[in-house]
Amino acid sequence: MKKIGVCVVGLGFVGGQAHAPSVNKIKNGNLVAVCDMNDKLATKYSTKYGCKKYLSVKEALKDPDIDAAVIAVPNPFHYQVAMEFIKAGKHILLEMPLGVDLKQTDKIISAAKKAKVTLMPGLNFKFAPIYKEIKRMIKKDKVLGKGPVAIHFREYISANLLAAQWPPNSWAWDKKKSGGPLFTLSVWSIDLFRWLLNSEIKQLHAVAENHKLPKYKGTHGYMGYAVAEFTNGTIVSLQYSGGVSADQTISRTELIGENTNILTAIDTHTIKLNTDDVYETVYKVDAPGTRMWGHYQEVEHFVDCLAKGKTPSVTPEDGRIATEAGIQIAKMYRQLK
Ligand SMILES: NC(=O)c1ccc[n+]([C@@H]2O[C@H](COP(=O)([O-])OP(=O)(O)OC[C@H]3O[C@@H](n4cnc5c(N)ncnc54)[C@H](O)[C@@H]3O)[C@@H](O)[C@H]2O)c1
Repeated sequence: MKKIGVCVVGLGFVGGQAHAPSVNKIKNGNLVAVCDMNDKLATKYSTKYGCKKYLSVKEALKDPDIDAAVIAVPNPFHYQVAMEFIKAGKHILLEMPLGVDLKQTDKIISAAKKAKVTLMPGLNFKFAPIYKEIKRMIKKDKVLGKGPVAIHFREYISANLLAAQWPPNSWAWDKKKSGGPLFTLSVWSIDLFRWLLNSEIKQLHAVAENHKLPKYKGTHGYMGYAVAEFTNGTIVSLQYSGGVSADQTISRTELIGENTNILTAIDTHTIKLNTDDVYETVYKVDAPGTRMWGHYQEVEHFVDCLAKGKTPSVTPEDGRIATEAGIQIAKMYRQLK
């Protein structure tokens, strides 16, 4: 079987630290090139992985060894970069949200369809081992009886991580250009609960605010709260908070069962089950490196589908639905002046 030649475009937080190391390890693909307009980053990763480097998409598109791209540029550039690869007939795994609005998103989706190239949205949460195990425990072991009646999701990103990832001048804070932090951050959890519940959002309400964190290199903090009702009746509350502690980045998903049991996923390694009989049982999930949040498995699935001529399980429509929900959550967001 011919190996799929992959180029990772955008070597910042997720492209450099999660996608490039993942593509470098997959069986059915080769990391043939990396591309970033920042020469320091392009040189760093091309040296690290012994692949070609490009400083622009135009240059990369001349390379016949590139069959597909993993696109991890900031939101404001998704549309332009995705369209260039699609027009060149290359398959793409496009980071989320797909476009900064539904107009861009729909154009990307229809262009990919027309060009007959694979467009897989980068929705990695459902590939994460901890959530796969949660789904298995609910569906197979029926630990929550007929299923969860309510879910509370909480994601705390620490102030120091925010300051390093998104300094005050980052694209991520600019609601006009990028949709803002709550748009960017909410898409994965929305998709996660659609997948976990096998159900669609019936209604969604949100409020959000944005404040200054002067002690942390002037970066911003945010507090976003949303509540969604799914068509199967489950109520899901979502809390996205940036800058709640100096160093602790914490994620917690608490599922309350129809049978009164509580199942909790803490970060990526710990599951707790509280039942009437046993106060608490702790399960550990083994998920090292870029497998932890499902980035490796996501890229592996994308490349395997290309190599075998299959359609990825994550569809453009999944990306559109999450993007639309993200827009709704970010609507109430108050931007700092
Ligand atoms: N799946 C996840 O876990 C996850 C996590 C964080 C961010 N993201 C998404 O990934 C995307 C990137 O986020 P990030 O935090 O890694 O951004 P970032 O700012 O850290 O990195 C983006 C990189 O893209 C480069 N770049 C910008 N325009 C380019 C172009 N036209 N051609 C080549 N390179 C270009 C920049 O130089 C930079 O190095 C966003 O859409 C974000 O929503 C996904």
